[in-house]
Amino acid sequence: MVSRVIPVDNFDLVIFGGTGDLARRKILPGLFRRFRSGQLPAEARVIGAARSEMDDAGYRQMIREAIAEFGSEEKEDADGIDAFLERLHYVAIDAMGEGGWKQLRDLMRDGVVRAFYFSVAPSLFGALAERLHEHRIADGESRIVVEKPFGRDLASAKALNATLAEHFDESQIYRIDHYLGKETVQNLMATRFGNVLFEPLWNSHYIDHIQITVAETVGVTGRGSYYDKSGAMRDMVQNHLMQLLCLIAMEPPSTYDADTVRDEKLKVIRALQPVEPHQVVRGQYEASQDGPSYREDAENPRSFTESFLALKCHIANWRWAKVPFYIRTGKRMKARSSEIAVVFKDLGHSIFEGDTARHRNILSIQLQPNEGMDLQVTIKEPGPGGMRLVDVPLDMTFADALGPDQEAPDAYERLIMDVIRGNQTLFMRGDEVEAAWAWTDPIIEGWEARNDVPKLYEAGTAGPEDAMMLMHRDGRRWREIKG
Ligand code: BG6
Repeated sequence: MVSRVIPVDNFDLVIFGGTGDLARRKILPGLFRRFRSGQLPAEARVIGAARSEMDDAGYRQMIREAIAEFGSEEKEDADGIDAFLERLHYVAIDAMGEGGWKQLRDLMRDGVVRAFYFSVAPSLFGALAERLHEHRIADGESRIVVEKPFGRDLASAKALNATLAEHFDESQIYRIDHYLGKETVQNLMATRFGNVLFEPLWNSHYIDHIQITVAETVGVTGRGSYYDKSGAMRDMVQNHLMQLLCLIAMEPPSTYDADTVRDEKLKVIRALQPVEPHQVVRGQYEASQDGPSYREDAENPRSFTESFLALKCHIANWRWAKVPFYIRTGKRMKARSSEIAVVFKDLGHSIFEGDTARHRNILSIQLQPNEGMDLQVTIKEPGPGGMRLVDVPLDMTFADALGPDQEAPDAYERLIMDVIRGNQTLFMRGDEVEAAWAWTDPIIEGWEARNDVPKLYEAGTAGPEDAMMLMHRDGRRWREIKG
């Protein structure tokens, strides 16, 4: 398949927090890959801005090392790296004071897209927005990119939105949820709305339930102090898993356009019913021979933060009436695997006498690690012995179907290119984020009021036993977590 790279317009991208972890791990290696693929115009510039004193040469060296360390795989050889590094500049800046702002203004060019990536703590968003305006660096055409966590509850998310709105219009704000930049996540929309096959069946008449799993093998080592204040609900569910749920559950938008898509997602979030305490299971991983316990990782021996969360929820609308959505996510689990499974209902009547097994069609969409889809169908087992039925997968691993050379851009790369193109479809709108908190806040408040203690689970498993029970009680079971 031919890769079609459409170059973006010329730009100046300023990364506040340009020496930070995200910039070094994701943003700059990603930009380098886009540069190599020919997507960046030759004159595009990236300006790192952070507290430390450094000159352009020092910054270029730092990024050279970051690309060597974090750039993906063997393809990331030194080819073109010098030309890319030439595009980088650095300004030492004081977000709260005056230092560096004049230099930054002098560096910026007219007539190119101006984008500002706030890869810093949310407490600095307001100060940065204000300085950018005060120094006339940003104007009505500029774009800002903000990272999660976007607030830690509804009140703080509203306050953040209000702060940004003082200086930027909603059409200029790009709230990143990197799950939306993942190839297969976009494929969810292509599958649903690009095929005639699925949409007629995509409702409570044919679907028994939906499962969404995002399992990770990593723990929280190294980021315990952040994670311990968030937990799985704030870190993963309120954003990534809810976005997946929206894409699975939303009504077909009339066009693939930013606000039309986001309007439909918002309706899903607003239709989510409150979750009862018995529909939530929180867990914490124990120590194992491969690593310390959650509490040790988080350096908080009395922590009640969840490193695992499973819950059952319902969407109160015609399409999904009575269809449960089961979602779960956790650290230090059995395998790294993210999957959405759409489990169809049993046949109402079987014509095959003696066949008592339960046969179900299951559409499984794997987001990672091996992107693809498979559809479980029932067929006759080949050979003699009568009509013996067996369930087999119609498997489509994208690498097999489309060729191993398909180099899908990493989520961050794609999303940054969308910022430059001015396409907000894959970014969260302010009202979406607020609606998501409005749904999760009472769940969190509920377990805090109950002094809920997370159930311990063995690292390398599928989570606590209670999570299994959440489905068993309904006569259903989770899909196996396979890497
Ligand atoms: C981040 C979370 O947003 O997503 C992390 O803060 C999590 O805790 C990560 O590990 C998972 O992303 P991915 O792309 O590896 O599935």
